[in-house]
Amino acid sequence: MAHHNLKGMRKPKLLRSKPKNRKDGKTKKDKAKALEAKGEARGEKVLPGKRVGPAEVSSKTGKTGMNKKEARALANLEKAHRDLYAKDERILLVGEGNFSFARSLCKHLGSASGVYATSFDTAAQLSGKYDDAAEHRKEIEETFGGTCLTGVDCTRIHKIKEFKGAFRKIVFNFPHMGSGEKDVEKSVAQHRQLLAAFFASAVKCLDLNLGCSIHVSLKSGEPYRSWKLVQTARAVCPELDLLTATPFMIDAFEGYEHRRTAGFNERHSAKDSEELEKGAKVYVFRHKRKQEDEVNEESVRKRAKVA
Ligand SMILES: C[S@@+](CC[C@H](N)C(=O)[O-])C[C@H]1O[C@@H](n2cnc3c(N)ncnc32)[C@H](O)[C@@H]1O
Repeated sequence: MAHHNLKGMRKPKLLRSKPKNRKDGKTKKDKAKALEAKGEARGEKVLPGKRVGPAEVSSKTGKTGMNKKEARALANLEKAHRDLYAKDERILLVGEGNFSFARSLCKHLGSASGVYATSFDTAAQLSGKYDDAAEHRKEIEETFGGTCLTGVDCTRIHKIKEFKGAFRKIVFNFPHMGSGEKDVEKSVAQHRQLLAAFFASAVKCLDLNLGCSIHVSLKSGEPYRSWKLVQTARAVCPELDLLTATPFMIDAFEGYEHRRTAGFNERHSAKDSEELEKGAKVYVFRHKRKQEDEVNEESVRKRAKVA
């Protein structure tokens, strides 16, 4: 089945308009300056000439007071998160909320003709839940040349003809069904099923001619621990290996605003961002085939050298 939105789709031209970074039009630098001023107003010590940059001030939680070493360590982790993705790769994002991660990823990559950002929500559901989603989608397509699709179920992506064997990376940040299920055991079982069905479908959409991987981000603690992500992936797709689990750095992708499945909520949003800073991780599952190919090629090369 081809996805109806893909049929005869014309790629939008790359425009040179400078995107606004945030809903309020303020850049991260503006926010950092404001926080610096706030710190001064509260009597916190701000060293003269000390740069309060992205690594030192979290735009999501407003955390300050980091020394240089800590700031450097944070900057390195943010870079490691960004470096998971490279220009010219075909990357599929599923389960986007307000498309702010996709927008930020496109901005980071510069050109995003290979980025396919999708949401489970339909266009109508999106506009009811997140008032900035439409703006982000427009920017992804018109400014960066990426593709946005709505109404895409991550457990059925292999049914989309154009997606089969098409991607180097498939990314699901913070899966959640948002069903409001109160029975914890039932909810855990439902999420394990969702993850299993996602892996089974996503693995069919990887381009096995390249080293390829599936990324899932999860918060730490319960109930996420009980979802048994790694065991679930292994059980469904023995051809996947957990390559690494790197911290999900919320400030690595400027403008990314985590969103709940139910929609934007003024009261919960800051708390959600804080939770993400408490040990959320990106789990990177690599397909073994290419690894084995690489190992085989390496041993052939070694044998050829010896002979
Ligand atoms: C907690 S929100 C995270 C949203 C976004 N990824 C972010 O990081 O802000 C969970 C997302 O999972 C999506 N989701 C739930 N079931 C899905 C499915 N079967 N296929 C695709 N996405 C799904 C929801 O629609 C929601 O957007």
